[in-house]
Amino acid sequence: MQISKHINSLQQELAVLTMQGESLALVPTMGNLHAGHMSLIREARKLADRVIVSIFVNPTQFDRDEDLAAYPRTLDEDIEKLEKGRVDLLFAPHSEEIYGEDSTTRIHVPGLADSLEGASRPGHFDGVATIVAKLFNLIQPDVALFGEKDFQQLQLIQRMVEDLNFPVSVLGFPTVREADGLAMSSRNRYLNEEERQKAPQLYAALQKMEQTLRQGKKDYLVMEEQATKDLENAGFGVDYVSIVGASDLKEPKEAESQLVILASAWLGQARLIDNIPVDLAES
Ligand code: PAJ
Repeated sequence: MQISKHINSLQQELAVLTMQGESLALVPTMGNLHAGHMSLIREARKLADRVIVSIFVNPTQFDRDEDLAAYPRTLDEDIEKLEKGRVDLLFAPHSEEIYGEDSTTRIHVPGLADSLEGASRPGHFDGVATIVAKLFNLIQPDVALFGEKDFQQLQLIQRMVEDLNFPVSVLGFPTVREADGLAMSSRNRYLNEEERQKAPQLYAALQKMEQTLRQGKKDYLVMEEQATKDLENAGFGVDYVSIVGASDLKEPKEAESQLVILASAWLGQARLIDNIPVDLAES
């Protein structure tokens, strides 16, 4: 695997890779790789000739300095995993390489950037949209892979790509979970033993809501309030539990069948997010 820490060397490597007209798949990450990231890399290998992974803990998407400072940085272990995953090129730049002192431009995706995660974490999605746009411009992949774990992020990037005519296909892949249902996340390491035992209850609460939806119930607000109360009783600090339309993340329309249940809740120092997409046309 080639490793580039600078834009210059990245572009030299890319020129070599694309010289023979080979297609490129990009998996953008912030590192501290787990099975969720590795599943995207496996899918990427099926979709393109060459797989590029980026590792960059993007400062502009963090709304709390403590969170940025504490974010796990495990480059050596990550490189080992990427070698095993037969990744062709790793782009792992320093912050100064990506954001010069004069950098001011930010991409805002109105609507999708402002609700749910965006409301809880002001500015977060402007940072995400901006870094992903920069990576698309620098790497120019044919396809880019994202996890449904960050459902709102995936929708926002798809919107941005369509609105700004980026020549890339953005694809989403299912959430990879621990055996007890907890969605894999780099932030799970902030959970102590007791919290770790409790954490799967977030997914369990969403599954219960999914069942209720599949029974044809439509009183979304009641369901959201009940789940919030259950989670709070279990010791979670709930940011939101919300049933929305899967494409615009707004209140479901009368006959809308593609929904998603999204939630975020604190457990100790860890802020967990999870979701279940629900296609009612299937049930
Ligand atoms: P990060 O949290 O490192 O996630 C990188 C990619 O892995 C994202 O597409 C995310 O949705 C996916 N992912 C994380 N956990 C997953 C899981 N349990 N199952 C499946 N996929 C999972 O998301 C980011 O980084 C950043 O916001 C980024 C897009 C790189 C921009 O900085």
